[in-house]
Amino acid sequence: MNEQQGPDRRGFHLAMIYGLWAVITSALTLPAAVYLLFPPKVKKTTQWVDAGDLAQIQPKAPEEVVFRKNRVDGWKVTSEKSTAWVVKLADNQAVAFSPQCTHLGCAYHWDESNKHFLCPCHTSTFDIDGRVLSGPAPRPLDRFQVRVEGTKLLIGDLQKPENV
Ligand code: FES
Repeated sequence: MNEQQGPDRRGFHLAMIYGLWAVITSALTLPAAVYLLFPPKVKKTTQWVDAGDLAQIQPKAPEEVVFRKNRVDGWKVTSEKSTAWVVKLADNQAVAFSPQCTHLGCAYHWDESNKHFLCPCHTSTFDIDGRVLSGPAPRPLDRFQVRVEGTKLLIGDLQKPENV
């Protein structure tokens, strides 16, 4: 009787060890396989931030506005200070330019006496609509998405050309 129980017990223990091994292996590899085969879909939604009262800005007089934007990096959310050059076109219409020159990214400013944006680094100039007046800047100023609600100016994402 003892001789017959020996192999059965050994077989049972081997089956338990292999079974446990299979459960542990699948518990470790299954989540990784699901992650690799079905990557999470990141929903890119525009984050609109309050950039002030448009009624306080004079038409056709560019003004640098400061606003805060949240930057999400994994689980970490940081609040960053950002600026934009805003040109009011009408009571409910405005454009907001990125504060960086399209040549090498220097900060430019509005030159009131010459009525153009001037980058001090390599003297690129842009008109009030952001078009290049003189190089070496290769393209017009980049723009933020803009929305006006009442008199509140909302700034969205920066829109850059595809191949930049
Ligand atoms: S960075 Fe503005 S002109 Fe070069």
